[in-house]
Amino acid sequence: MKIAVVGTGYVGLVTGTCLAETGNTVTCVDINEEKVKMMQAFKLPIYEPGLDLLFHRNIEQGRLKFTTNLADAISDAQIIYLALPTPPDGDGAADLSYVLGAAKDIAKLIKEYKVIVTKSTVPVGTADKVIKVFKDNTSVEVDVVSNPEFLREGVAVEDFMKPDRVVVGTESVRAQKLMAELYGPYVRQGNPIIFMDARSSELTKYAANSFLATKITFMNEIANLCELVGADVDAVRKGIGSDDRIGKRFLFPGVGYGGSCFPKDVQALAHSARENKYDFKILESVMEVNDIQRKVLVEKMRKYYDGQLKGKKIAIWGLAFKPETDDIREAPALYIIEELLKDGAIISAFDPEAMSNVKKVVGDKIHFGDNQYDILKDADALVIVTEWSVFRTPDFDRVGTLLKSKVIFDGRNLYDLQKMIDCGYYYNSIGRKTISI
Ligand code: UDX
Repeated sequence: MKIAVVGTGYVGLVTGTCLAETGNTVTCVDINEEKVKMMQAFKLPIYEPGLDLLFHRNIEQGRLKFTTNLADAISDAQIIYLALPTPPDGDGAADLSYVLGAAKDIAKLIKEYKVIVTKSTVPVGTADKVIKVFKDNTSVEVDVVSNPEFLREGVAVEDFMKPDRVVVGTESVRAQKLMAELYGPYVRQGNPIIFMDARSSELTKYAANSFLATKITFMNEIANLCELVGADVDAVRKGIGSDDRIGKRFLFPGVGYGGSCFPKDVQALAHSARENKYDFKILESVMEVNDIQRKVLVEKMRKYYDGQLKGKKIAIWGLAFKPETDDIREAPALYIIEELLKDGAIISAFDPEAMSNVKKVVGDKIHFGDNQYDILKDADALVIVTEWSVFRTPDFDRVGTLLKSKVIFDGRNLYDLQKMIDCGYYYNSIGRKTISI
């Protein structure tokens, strides 16, 4: 099939590349000339495991192209994906100007039937707005399909190539048939393509992400309670996760959820509920609790140092909002850094992929290391914010020798408590017993 993808952000690029991989011809279009030039020169603008291989292979085989020219990109495309940003506006609603703007440009260019697929996470009713834009600007027939993405950063290629499910929101049989054909190769193992109306499809995406954010938040609160009642959240997690109805995944407590999706989508769904005069109490609490949880490590440190963080040297392992990405959008590390700087701490940090992005935000207010050990020299404490594999089994003797005091605040529960006792550390993690020296 011939496909155009408008917007080469994270979702657009993964979608375009993965659609080319099964033999489709895909043209990705973006207004950012610099980015398009970069991709035409075989360079990926993002870090995503496994994407590089597919990106190169499909460009080399002529199935994946990049352009800034919208007309060229869509002229012979049967399906046009809209993968444009929908950032929150001032009061938490999703800003649809990019999506509707692109729809208008496309409407003015098309000469024959097209399927328009909204891939961006958009509020309920957006497909209807896109349909109206087409009706207002062209007499050519189109079908507008909502097809939310469920891609996790770090495993996005795998998620696209072998999805748990594909949700397709359209009542047009013609569009349903085309989408079924397109996604057939991706669901060969038997996972479903679930057809529904566009509104339900749009809400499915928000419901999925908000549910997962709620699940994490619930565990964060259980963890906080564990500390107060002397229980161990790891044990509780295993105890409840073995119940199929609950499931083992997304039960890990930490320093709050972050990233480009959960915070934005929870906010947008809560906003949409308010707009519809529905008081979505759980979601309002989820947002409130997550704000507090982001600072939980800082509060623990304030307590440990009796409020005297001024001049303390703090080493941070992990800045990305989660491992295997360089993405720092809504990363808990940024909130932690901001609080620690406010208190006058001196920060050095290391992250395998995200340091250059953080540098763009904090400049030289903090020091960045070349590796995870060199930032530890003479530090008063080590703080773990992102659970990169490389932090899981460090050389504890080396860590202990470099640190001024053997103190670790761990926001991801990476280490075994007995190991910390044996190695002689003060170790404060989430929802578990604090190990004192
Ligand atoms: C998410 C959804 O999973 C994906 O389906 C959607 O389409 C896009 O948003 P992503 O943002 O890449 O994907 O990250 P995800 O792996 O879901 O993690 C989100 C946040 O939750 C991270 O900050 C992570 O650290 C946190 N998290 C996740 C926890 O704190 N505990 C967990 O058990 C799982």
